[in-house]
Amino acid sequence: TYSCVSSGRIKPAGKHTNCILICVYPVPRFRSTSSMQGFSELARERSKTVTSFYNQSAIDVSAEKASVRLTLATLLYSGKSPDGHHILSSAKYLHKELPVRIAHRIKGFRSLPFIIGCNPTILQVHELYIRAYHMLSDFPPIKDQDMEARFCKLVQQLLDDHKDVVTMLAQGFRECRRHVQDEMILRSFLDTTLCSRLGIRMLATHHLALHEENADFVGIICRRLSPKKIIEKWVDFARRLCEHQYGNSPRVRINGHVAARFPFIPLPLDYILPELLKNAMRATMESHLDTPYNVPDVVVTIANNDIDFVIRISDRGGGIPHNIVDKVMDYHFSTAEESAQDPRMSNLFNNITNSGNQSSPMHGFGFGLPTSRAYAEYLGGSLSVQSMQGIGTDVYLRLRHIDGKGESFRV
Ligand SMILES: Nc1ncnc2c1ncn2[C@@H]1O[C@H](COP(=O)(O)OP(=O)(O)OP(=O)(O)O)[C@@H](O)[C@H]1O
Ligand SMILES: [Mg+2]
Repeated sequence: TYSCVSSGRIKPAGKHTNCILICVYPVPRFRSTSSMQGFSELARERSKTVTSFYNQSAIDVSAEKASVRLTLATLLYSGKSPDGHHILSSAKYLHKELPVRIAHRIKGFRSLPFIIGCNPTILQVHELYIRAYHMLSDFPPIKDQDMEARFCKLVQQLLDDHKDVVTMLAQGFRECRRHVQDEMILRSFLDTTLCSRLGIRMLATHHLALHEENADFVGIICRRLSPKKIIEKWVDFARRLCEHQYGNSPRVRINGHVAARFPFIPLPLDYILPELLKNAMRATMESHLDTPYNVPDVVVTIANNDIDFVIRISDRGGGIPHNIVDKVMDYHFSTAEESAQDPRMSNLFNNITNSGNQSSPMHGFGFGLPTSRAYAEYLGGSLSVQSMQGIGTDVYLRLRHIDGKGESFRV
């Protein structure tokens, strides 16, 4: 039963559904009836829930609509009206746009291979999206400031409800990815879902931030973002984590266009920079486990031009070995487990107590690089890794200017 559906697309609960739910995912027993009866009742309940996920005609209609993606220049220059009219039109746009984007994502969950779509953690995220869809589409038309204030509360609540979605997806897919042969299905689902989530969160936080008075910002767009400053902020963060885990951390030198300032959104950089810096510091420390108090610096170079800007992070952490260099961009690829087994790690630093458990502040699900690359590409840029095996690694993050000469990207 399992093999006949695992390769196909998810279907509404039918004859096979109960078998799959029972066979593949451990079902907690919380009923006092005999275990078999408890099992089948629970499976029937779950199957009903799953069926309900697929029979939602309003979502089908929204999923057919096209999403309206805006350029950041539009957001930046849309102008401020003293009567707050710009906030009202922004809320109206979101009210119309978010359900469509969420419906597209729900369609993505429904098209996952059956075996994945039924994973309890993935189902939980699927359900979060369905709830968000209904809460937004049931919200009445936004005609005045009172309604707009209520809408902001809803948007904030949804942002909070969805804050752990990336971790949940990482966990859910890790539990069931071995059942899927075609890696591309996972990659394209995760790329699309994570980027769409980034876009939704950027639009939502932008709208909420329009209420704030800050001369340097229009919503979430910083008018004069200094790449050096934001890099320094994340260097401090990554060094603290690194010191906690390895007892020391590499120094970081920043060079190139250190005085550059231009309009940009900090939000994606706030995700990508700590990931890249953590990787560089971890590689540096783990390639110098015998001399942890004498490690080479990490060097960050900024290059700015009228089309885009580039941030290169160079470490001397030994590089990425030939046999894994093609895999580091795969979701869930991580060498965390191997390094936890190195006896020097636990001998030298008592604070590494989680060997066997893959997650720690410095490395986790193997999501850092693939997610950063997906975000960079979504924003019209790129992320590439150059390994000099035996010496170190250079990671190039390239991002397009909002109002540069090149074609503008859309959120
Ligand atoms: N600068 C680097 N030098 C050497 N190896 C690297 C470097 N950056 C990444 N890697 C290798 O690529 C793997 C995948 O990196 P990625 O950031 O995607 O996942 P992770 O760091 O293991 O976990 P996560 O980032 O999700 O916490 C790492 O486990 C490591 O083996
Ligand atoms: Mg990482």
